[in-house]
Amino acid sequence: MIKVGGSLGADMSRACADIRALVDRGDSVVVVHGGGAEADRLADELGRPKRYLTASGGRRSRYTDAAALDVLVLGMLGRLKPPLVTELLRLGVRAVGLSGADGGMVTARRTPPANVVVDGVRRVVRDDLSGRISAVDAHLPRTLLAAGYVPVISPPAYDPEADPESGAGLLNVDADRFAARLAVALEADWLVILSNVPGLLRDPGDPGSLVTEIPCEDLAGYLDLAGGRMKVKLRTAGEACLAGVPHVVLGDGRGPSPVLAARAGAGTTLVKGVP
Ligand SMILES: Nc1ncnc2c1ncn2[C@@H]1O[C@H](COP(=O)(O)OP(=O)(O)OP(=O)(O)O)[C@@H](O)[C@H]1O
Ligand SMILES: [Mg+2]
Repeated sequence: MIKVGGSLGADMSRACADIRALVDRGDSVVVVHGGGAEADRLADELGRPKRYLTASGGRRSRYTDAAALDVLVLGMLGRLKPPLVTELLRLGVRAVGLSGADGGMVTARRTPPANVVVDGVRRVVRDDLSGRISAVDAHLPRTLLAAGYVPVISPPAYDPEADPESGAGLLNVDADRFAARLAVALEADWLVILSNVPGLLRDPGDPGSLVTEIPCEDLAGYLDLAGGRMKVKLRTAGEACLAGVPHVVLGDGRGPSPVLAARAGAGTTLVKGVP
């Protein structure tokens, strides 16, 4: 399982040659991609507002009302996925683009209304279309892998309880968690999470301050080092490691051979059972 971060922008396609190499040697590969940055760019382009909400714990996240979800879906499925799929096809990889909703693969439950701060004002938000993944059905990706395809999957997820009158029945979910949950469901040997940093840094301003190894039973001290978006990433990687994915790495997606580099030990590795 290879997750390419939306933070990578055009560098997302750097993983494609490695994917070809892995497929060539007979590995089954699933790609998950994010797309927060593209959604923000598209919102600017379309003149749509970008809003964030801050939870009482201080965590800042995208305020995904129906219009924002629309932009997110357009960005992820319309702008980001096609060039990833065509780049893989060009390299001879039989890539298939999907969202979490396809085949009922990733199901989510909507986050309940919360008392949060939006644009400096505290209020209860009831129209946020974000959710937490409640179930993963790996039947579709397994079927595709068995037939020699490489699924290229991303949020959103499917909300079976959505009101059919309002919205598309989709929910925004975190792309790292999406990749981790699929990796667990598929019993993946590897979860390689690529983004625009070398891994977890002790000092985000210093690329030399890389933390190379983290015991997944004891994340607390490391979570304190991470800023908002890296916190989610690290917590999720820890969950996958605890759930039994044998190799979990946070790697740098900006280099020439990012997946193979991460598999060779570059980046931050999550390890289980270290005293
Ligand atoms: N201690 C830290 N070490 C490394 N990165 C950090 C740290 N604290 C915060 N960050 C931030 O986390 C960011 C990576 O998370 P982000 O969600 O932005 O990227 P992504 O997961 O690749 O993209 P997407 O969520 O769209 O898929 C880095 O760009 C960096 O700014
Ligand atoms: Mg992220």
